[in-house]
Amino acid sequence: MLKGSPDSGLSVSGVTVQFGGLRALEDVTLSVPPRSVVGLVGPNGAGKTTLFNVVSGFVRPSAGQLTWDGHPFHPKPRRLVRQGIARTLQDVGLFPHLTAVENVMLGRTTQRRAGYVSSLLGLPGSARDERESRRISTEGLDRLGVAQHAERQASALPYPVQKRVALARALVTRPRLLLLDEPAGGLGAEDFEPLAELVKSLPGDPDSPCSVLLVEHHMDFVMGVCDQVVVLDFGRLVAAGTPSEIQSDPAVAAAYLGIDPTDIEVDAGTAVTLTEEPA
Ligand SMILES: Nc1ncnc2c1ncn2[C@@H]1O[C@H](COP(=O)(O)OP(=O)(O)OP(=O)(O)O)[C@@H](O)[C@H]1O
Ligand SMILES: [Mg+2]
Repeated sequence: MLKGSPDSGLSVSGVTVQFGGLRALEDVTLSVPPRSVVGLVGPNGAGKTTLFNVVSGFVRPSAGQLTWDGHPFHPKPRRLVRQGIARTLQDVGLFPHLTAVENVMLGRTTQRRAGYVSSLLGLPGSARDERESRRISTEGLDRLGVAQHAERQASALPYPVQKRVALARALVTRPRLLLLDEPAGGLGAEDFEPLAELVKSLPGDPDSPCSVLLVEHHMDFVMGVCDQVVVLDFGRLVAAGTPSEIQSDPAVAAAYLGIDPTDIEVDAGTAVTLTEEPA
């Protein structure tokens, strides 16, 4: 894709984040090409959510640059949705006292045509807007298979349903890049397949194609949905490649199992074998 093209995806280049004495990210470079699903994996504390916080403007890196659509990108949380990026939070992040559909409608606020004044005065434009927003949000819940919960208070919903409501809220913004932080976390195995199908379908969505940067600990899920996988360990990128390349990478086994990479043999690029038992 040409530099400066409106469809050149996200690039993260040399990003370092320091929290006091802790270096949460160190010189991390990765890209999310348009219409792709990229997995970001690594052990607890590796820096995955911190990278999401950098891309969404909650954390400012001490070094490095981002580009989005081929242009330098200085994300601001409040402008993110307008810039075509949506995210879900690791811990769901719904407003507990609002209903499911009201939570999703919040995702639509930047698309509303009627201004705050007409909303405050209850003018016809705002009522139309609200009806339209409710209709689209209900469709969003339906896409995730949870429309029957639309009028229930978020705090009363089972956790897997809350996760889907949060995902619906992100999707109704019609993002071109979706940042998913542990979408399968807390779900039962029976929920994985429909979620995987949904994530895989996003880049090719005819109405609103969307690339995905996905953080997830469930490796089968990651390997099943991602085109590329990036592995972080202690804030550093230790491996990047296709799912099969990653599965046979000794540095990945080292990051996950705490094994010294010199104790690992790689057999024909397919499997990792230990030459010594981990301590
Ligand atoms: N705001 C913050 N202030 C200080 N330290 C932080 C902050 N946010 C994250 N950290 C630290 O930075 C490191 C990376 O945290 P991060 O949440 O990015 O990890 P993660 O890969 O998302 O882990 P997990 O898989 O457990 O969600 C951790 O050591 C964490 O304690
Ligand atoms: Mg995290």
